[in-house]
Amino acid sequence: MRTKSSTVTLALAVAALVSLGVLARATPRQAAPGEGYAWADACKPCHADIYESWSHTKHARAISRLSSGDQQKECITCHVTGSDGKIDKDGKFVNGGIQCEACHGAAAAHAADPAFRTGLVRKAAREVCEKCHSAKSPHFRGFYYEGMLALSHPLPKK
Ligand code: HEC
Ligand code: HEC
Ligand code: HEC
Ligand code: HEC
Repeated sequence: MRTKSSTVTLALAVAALVSLGVLARATPRQAAPGEGYAWADACKPCHADIYESWSHTKHARAISRLSSGDQQKECITCHVTGSDGKIDKDGKFVNGGIQCEACHGAAAAHAADPAFRTGLVRKAAREVCEKCHSAKSPHFRGFYYEGMLALSHPLPKK
């Protein structure tokens, strides 16, 4: 049989949990733009060959396709890395172009400790490419996942 005081305690506990939930919802944690990303220059020391091949792809220079006016428009979403639009860090524009992490996922933790692979994507899924390679692109010329994947960058000879 439940006593009156235990019912009160229970009610108080429930009220506390509910208000915590309300507070948690009222102040959601906002991730800083580009949080978790290290950007391509950080990958260069350890993946020099891949960095070198990638730097000659159109992906690396995709931001140069946009005039400064176009960069203010929605255009930028598919010509930068990550989903936060243009990101400046210490006065430098860090996420221009389709960088490593657009396909491999945010990799700051891995760059700091290479053994850390959680969240690191080896082979980007079709959906990752098709976020940009779709009819929403004003210059869409079609996309063939199987055929185009290997053009991301050549893999080092093993
Ligand atoms: C301090 C050195 C270091 C840095 C910096 C580094 N990596 Fe790596 N990375 C490694 C090592 C070592 C491996 C394992 C190599 C292997 O398995 O052949 C690896 C493996 C990978 C793999 C393959 C994972 C798999 O499952 O096969 C990817 C993708 C990758 N790194 C992406 C990146 C990206 C993107 C960056 C920059 C944001 C980066 N790395 C920065 C050392 C580094
Ligand atoms: C357009 C997408 C794309 C971009 C951009 C990209 N990669 Fe990759 N990367 C791939 C694909 C696809 C593979 C091969 C995956 C597979 O078939 O297993 C790969 C493989 C790798 C591997 C594994 C290589 C091995 O020998 O096993 C590493 C490391 C890597 N990429 C690092 C990088 C780095 C560093 C950059 C930037 C300088 C970069 N990638 C940019 C798509 C991309
Ligand atoms: C964040 C947007 C974005 C993502 C993600 C993306 N791409 Fe691209 N891709 C572009 C843009 C923009 C261009 C055009 C660059 C230019 O012409 O300046 C392009 C161009 C290309 C080209 C032509 C490259 C050349 O040098 O001729 C290939 C091939 C390609 N992408 C394949 C892929 C594949 C495969 C994936 C997924 C593994 C992928 N892309 C993911 C935006 C993206
Ligand atoms: C939904 C993603 C997306 C949006 C939004 C987008 N682009 Fe692109 N853009 C791409 C991709 C992907 C390519 C590579 C061509 C292809 O295969 O679709 C590209 C290629 C280009 C090219 C190279 C020309 C060519 O024929 O390849 C230019 C220039 C360009 N985009 C400018 C713009 C401008 C300007 C806007 C805004 C009005 C814009 N883009 C909006 C994804 C996008």
